[in-house]
Amino acid sequence: MAVNVAVHDACCVFAGPVVTEARTRQVMLRRGDFVLSPCLWHDARFQIVAFRCYLITSLLAIGVPTVQSASHPALPDLPNESPLPHILSIDSLSGTEIDAIFDAADRLQPFARGQRVSNVLNGAVLVNLFLEASTRTRISFGAAFNRLGGHVRDTTGFQFSSLAKGETLADTARVVSFYADVIVLRHPTEGEVATFSQSSLVPVINAGDGSGEHPTQSLLDLYSIRMQRRQRGGEVAGSTVAFIGDLHFGRTVHSLIRLLMRFESMHFVLCSPDFLGLPSQLLARVKARGHRVTVVDAIPEALAMADIIYITRVQRERFSDRGEFTLPPASFRTTRSMIDQHCLPHAVIFHPLPRDGRPEANDLDPAISDSIDSRVAIFRQADNGIATRMALFLHVFGVGIEAVESTATVPLWKSWKV
Ligand code: NCD
Repeated sequence: MAVNVAVHDACCVFAGPVVTEARTRQVMLRRGDFVLSPCLWHDARFQIVAFRCYLITSLLAIGVPTVQSASHPALPDLPNESPLPHILSIDSLSGTEIDAIFDAADRLQPFARGQRVSNVLNGAVLVNLFLEASTRTRISFGAAFNRLGGHVRDTTGFQFSSLAKGETLADTARVVSFYADVIVLRHPTEGEVATFSQSSLVPVINAGDGSGEHPTQSLLDLYSIRMQRRQRGGEVAGSTVAFIGDLHFGRTVHSLIRLLMRFESMHFVLCSPDFLGLPSQLLARVKARGHRVTVVDAIPEALAMADIIYITRVQRERFSDRGEFTLPPASFRTTRSMIDQHCLPHAVIFHPLPRDGRPEANDLDPAISDSIDSRVAIFRQADNGIATRMALFLHVFGVGIEAVESTATVPLWKSWKV
């Protein structure tokens, strides 16, 4: 029997149908049933549980219940030093952890493709909080979590969040972390994901903080670079990597270069419009690690030297409040003829995407794809976003890849992916 229950005077309303099972004398609340109560503002998660328990016992016994104050556990205090496995920078992960994530990602490929299914994260909730534009990062985080059997709640756009009403980041973090087991946050301002994490009761993953970092993009970038290099009989260590584009605001560049500088004897070739060069502190860090750095003005010069080419778009959205920046000329664009004439035969071209396809854009020409040049790996790179993010979730939740494999089944439905 499904009934709509409203208990007005008791300040408690079910906004969805409540299903009662007369034989067992239980009320079954379904995911999505919604309870409103003034007390929710103070202690959301535990109060919801308390009201649900109360209604389960009282509804059947006396019809319209009288709400009594329910006792509930005290909320946990925020720890001084967070023991949670937040992923705020790529530096949050050690080399050993990254190796384990990549090994797991290799084994997760059939799961990322829907050829095997697993429910190891059944019952877990991911909240995707994207306060800036995103397509692939938000969707691939969600799809990766779904592929492990977890549930995803999304919110997008600063203007649709309560931050636009003046709520502090700390309050948002505290409340959202009641609703989730892990939070993925993209924020327009550098450092704000770290600020948010200080008030969260669950792990927070940085999906891009302004022009700061984008650690999970660099994970999938390195995973893809390693895979492509190995297919060509090469390794990452000792290679020449050309970074072309906006090295100043590009957070994917900042995280990837942090990761690549952990390898031995790298040669970094930096090519950008002159006011969009790598931030000086990061450049100093690369040099202090003993790597070779060459700065060039012309894209063909960078292409001609590199084993690995990483192109990024100019981050126009970061220019608005900085009068000193103007868009570079459209001539700063990587064209097909440049690639044909200058790239080494074994070179591989990467791009975090999106690439800017507007006629005046300073980016990789949108006509270039893997179907016309097998050195272009940009879509295979994006595809790796699912397996690497699945592996990262296993790391964050402390679940071994063996648990995924031992509980796996073959889907009943047809997977379209190859
Ligand atoms: C990048 C980002 O958001 O930093 N995109 C992505 O997440 N794949 C790169 C960009 O927007 O240029």
